[in-house]
Amino acid sequence: MAKQEDVFKKVISHAKEYGFIFPSSEIYDGLSAIYDYGQNGVELKNNIKQYWWKAMVQMNDNIVGIDSAIFMHPTVWKASGHVDAFNDPLIDNKDSKKRFRADVLLEDYCAKLEDKAQKEIDKAEKRFGETFDRVQFEETNSKVIAYREKQKAILSRMAKSLENNDLADVKSLIEELEIADPDTGSKNWTEVRQFNLMFGTKLGAAAENAMDLYLRPETAQGIFINYLNVQKTSRHKLPFGIAQIGKAFRNEIVARQFIFRMREFEQMEMQFFVAPGTELDFYEKWKQTRLKWHLALGLGEENYKFHDHEKLAHYANAAADIEFKFPFGFKELEGIHSRTDFDLSAHEKYSGKKLQYFDPERNESYVPYVVETSVGLDRLFLAIFSNCLKEEVLEDGSQRTVLSLPPALAPVKAAILPLVKKDGLGEYAQDIFNDLKYDFNIIYEDKDSIGRRYRRQDAIGTPFCITIDHDSLQDHMVTLRDRDTMKQERVPTSKLRSIIDEKVNFRTLLSKI
Ligand code: GAP
Repeated sequence: MAKQEDVFKKVISHAKEYGFIFPSSEIYDGLSAIYDYGQNGVELKNNIKQYWWKAMVQMNDNIVGIDSAIFMHPTVWKASGHVDAFNDPLIDNKDSKKRFRADVLLEDYCAKLEDKAQKEIDKAEKRFGETFDRVQFEETNSKVIAYREKQKAILSRMAKSLENNDLADVKSLIEELEIADPDTGSKNWTEVRQFNLMFGTKLGAAAENAMDLYLRPETAQGIFINYLNVQKTSRHKLPFGIAQIGKAFRNEIVARQFIFRMREFEQMEMQFFVAPGTELDFYEKWKQTRLKWHLALGLGEENYKFHDHEKLAHYANAAADIEFKFPFGFKELEGIHSRTDFDLSAHEKYSGKKLQYFDPERNESYVPYVVETSVGLDRLFLAIFSNCLKEEVLEDGSQRTVLSLPPALAPVKAAILPLVKKDGLGEYAQDIFNDLKYDFNIIYEDKDSIGRRYRRQDAIGTPFCITIDHDSLQDHMVTLRDRDTMKQERVPTSKLRSIIDEKVNFRTLLSKI
């Protein structure tokens, strides 16, 4: 089995074993691509939300937050284009009965061609050593050129066929390339069909007058339809932004890879409303700002890259993804899109209500343009969790599993551990707990050996362990153990709050942005 797969399996089992993520409805054998967050998962998730909310809303005096309803008038989705165009092309394998996204099959085929090109480059690098000129090799080596040209031809034919809704040609392409079901090798495919990703539901008790609704597939539309309410009541001038964190639902065809692609998930989105003609400057600015926000988490600069979209959605005039190196390779983490005035204009048209802004400087009214930043909370959780989960070999040869989360995000900030419960140590530890509980999420634990208790805290990413021993009752000093260095030092009990605070507060993290 590939190493990457082992790492990913470890991530999934650790998330379950330590109360971060459980398969939903597990006692009924689970529900595909739906997950529940456990006692530690919800804390980590809430802390990630706080990091985003503080950076976006609290630290920008021209961004405000909202919390719009999940149910919206069905015409919202007609106006946004989701009813007609929020589709994925699907194809079934007749033998294995498995369903695939036709575009993903083709993209995976291209990724394999790119792997082959990379292998040629790596081979040449080994052969030529220090004198190797990578750019020149890529530009002149016939094999590399052929692999890349083939990829380009496939992707551009696929894009054209999808744009023209020529699904028969997408199938022909799959057949011409002899793409097989990756699990069974069968090439016995059905036709390609479009599949709308929105979940439907009904509003109203009586069947005859119930209204067909959708569960929102993105939070952004809740922001667009509240644009005027927020602009008028906040009295913000352009440019200004509206941020929102909330659930979104998509009936994904291929929902694998744990919480990377879910059917019920959370998004953190911000729509920045700007004057027409200024949107591309703001788009560049938000690309850099959002990347900086990610980098401040300290997961390694080399694990992020931009992927600028060449083929743009009909409503966008620029779009890029921030990709992250997940255990299964670089994949989209966040999208930054310059959405022009598409959404607000569409809502104007469908609702018949003006959604314009009077610009006192230009002395004219217009529909604002929008730059959007959109990050999946669960995907971000997976990025952080998988990157921070480490197996370390210690000096004495033993191993430990540590979740080296950024301290501000750690579910538990400190564990209060009396060496033994008796002799007044338990009471002393309880007093510390009762003092610190107002400021931090902390836990008290008096079972098992101190070594085992340390290991349990390492595994959930607790930055500090505080051990109370017999001396503590006399000198009012405790042993403070640091999760990352495992160094232990005696500190006065009275200083605990300030020491913990300095390490775990959001200011320390936010000031890196
Ligand atoms: N409003 C724009 C929008 O929704 P998107 O690229 O479809 O754009 C934005 O989604 C982000 O939401 C993605 O970058 C990803 O992090 C997250 N996301 C999308 N679909 C998801 C899914 N099925 N499961 C988990 N996260 C998802």
